[in-house]
Amino acid sequence: MTLLHVDKEKCKRDGICAAVCPAKIIVLPSETDYPEMIEDGEQSCIRCGHCVAVCPHGAMNHESMGAADCPPVRKEWLLGAEQTEHFLRNRRSTRVYKEKPVDQETLVRLVEIARYAPSGRNTQPVKWKIVQEKKDVKRLSGHVIDWMRQLIDEKSPFAEAMQMGRIVQGWEYGMDPITRDAPHLVIAHGHKSDPTAQTAATIALAYFELAATGFELGACWAGYFTAAALFWPPMQEALALPENHTCCGALMVGHPKFKYHRLPLRNEPEITWL
Ligand SMILES: Cc1cc2nc3c(=O)[nH]c(=O)nc-3n(C[C@H](O)[C@H](O)[C@H](O)COP(=O)(O)O)c2cc1C
Repeated sequence: MTLLHVDKEKCKRDGICAAVCPAKIIVLPSETDYPEMIEDGEQSCIRCGHCVAVCPHGAMNHESMGAADCPPVRKEWLLGAEQTEHFLRNRRSTRVYKEKPVDQETLVRLVEIARYAPSGRNTQPVKWKIVQEKKDVKRLSGHVIDWMRQLIDEKSPFAEAMQMGRIVQGWEYGMDPITRDAPHLVIAHGHKSDPTAQTAATIALAYFELAATGFELGACWAGYFTAAALFWPPMQEALALPENHTCCGALMVGHPKFKYHRLPLRNEPEITWL
């Protein structure tokens, strides 16, 4: 099969596939022709599957995904405006977890969902590292504390701005202000030279966090952890990411100990119009 295969029995020559193709590699030479790929189109195709997904007749097939491989949209499962707002506003940063670990299958399922997040030119550059054992999450938090102690010793303004003294003190009192005694840590990483990896990872982590709520799990961005992973060599050694990869963000994950019963308020948006 070439890159695109049009099922001529099903195709209505409506041109929708050509209209949505982001790389503009699909054309209908005339109104009566079937869609076809331009010469050398293969090199420009970003394999986003829009041509397959948009065809109302299931007539388009891409080498990487046939129409039959792509599940149909379940309209009855789509959220309306009210439900969407409620779903998004109901996501909370979870900082108190049950002792119970999350099974590996569920963590993998959440990563599977997060991989549908958008990425520049659909390159899907995000890789994942999951810290499975609570003792290892704690050990990594210890590296964050070491990094903070060093910044405090150096009298770094960053340490002061981030109130690192208080954080280290909390740790010394036996609390875990870094990863909140979470049972797992999910780290998104990407190649240092890829300018799209950081944004793609941030979006994918946001998908992960939102998806977690649907599984009655809780997550929380691990900002201190991420900063230490960027700047503290002992942490980088402990993480052992692939060569030339950098940590793009991390989430604590676990079963929330408490449920929230109201939606807290946020600042009014500041919008300017042009
Ligand atoms: C980039 C980023 C880093 C964060 N880092 C931490 C962190 O290290 N520890 C923590 O407890 N919460 C962290 N948070 C969670 C925020 O404090 C939280 O999103 C905010 O207070 C709003 O609460 P909500 O998420 O429940 O709406 C972080 C959030 C973001 C977006």
